Amino acid sequence: MYDNVMWPPFPGLCPDSEKKFKEKQDMECRDTDVFICSYPKAGTNWTHEVLSMLISQSTSYNLWVEQKGLLEICDPLDITTKIPSPRLFMTHMPYRYLPSQLQNGKGKIVYVQRNPKDLFVSLYNFEKGKSAIGKHLSWEEFFEKNVIKDEGVLYGGWYQHTKEWEKKLGHNNILQLYYEDMKKDLVGNIFKIADFLETSCSKELAETIAEKCSFDNLKANRIDPTSFITEGGQSTLYRKGQVGDWKNWFTVSQNEIFDRNYRDVMKGTTLNFIYDL
Ligand code: PPS
Repeated sequence: MYDNVMWPPFPGLCPDSEKKFKEKQDMECRDTDVFICSYPKAGTNWTHEVLSMLISQSTSYNLWVEQKGLLEICDPLDITTKIPSPRLFMTHMPYRYLPSQLQNGKGKIVYVQRNPKDLFVSLYNFEKGKSAIGKHLSWEEFFEKNVIKDEGVLYGGWYQHTKEWEKKLGHNNILQLYYEDMKKDLVGNIFKIADFLETSCSKELAETIAEKCSFDNLKANRIDPTSFITEGGQSTLYRKGQVGDWKNWFTVSQNEIFDRNYRDVMKGTTLNFIYDL
């Protein structure tokens, strides 16, 4: 715990959290920096693959490790100064922990969201077997803790994280993307991203990126950068990649509890999630 938020045990976050959070806040941003921001399991790595191809105008898979992955894994943060421009970062941090310069408009943010039912199912399956992050909870226990109580959960919990981000979505250096939209029309979303990044993108490039970044192709060709914290080292990152898998997990009663709780906690928000395609 730091600042009343539960963080994953990443080297860029602890120990010495106060210093490390301050370093991030004071990070020197570049106008060309792009940060992919999300709550975990929203499709962060997928979006990263798409953006790295778009930015490099190439359709070969990048080496995830070259970009050091999540900002919160970078330690010491100085290593990021050696990355040539344009730099591409990913982070799950709540908005208020982002570098001040980025919050003030230097650099761009691509914010990815996913319907919370599928996101929680994905998170549950991801945490299973990762004792460094979560305990071995049953789905019922996980549901109670993460979905309903939203207490002591990663990155301050989905609800708080999402509400904080929603307030910032009008900023003109933020592009909001939905996982479900990307599933439905990845090529259309690639054009949207290219416009936002002011990068050229031919129809042929967009179609090739979409193909290379399909779930099946990523699963077959990409390493799971998180397997180092999985017992046995097996991948839980490219799991199913579907919209609506929550129906295989939520009982009728859990779904009713979820909907009621969501209406209550998210009252006043304007987010419009799609739960089925
Ligand atoms: S992490 O570890 O928090 O950064 O995870 P994140 O990358 O945000 O999300 C992982 C989920 O995204 C799915 N994924 C995809 N879905 C559709 N198409 C493609 N190409 C794709 N690539 C990754 C991945 O399978 C995880 O979702 P689940 O539901 O667990 O399969």
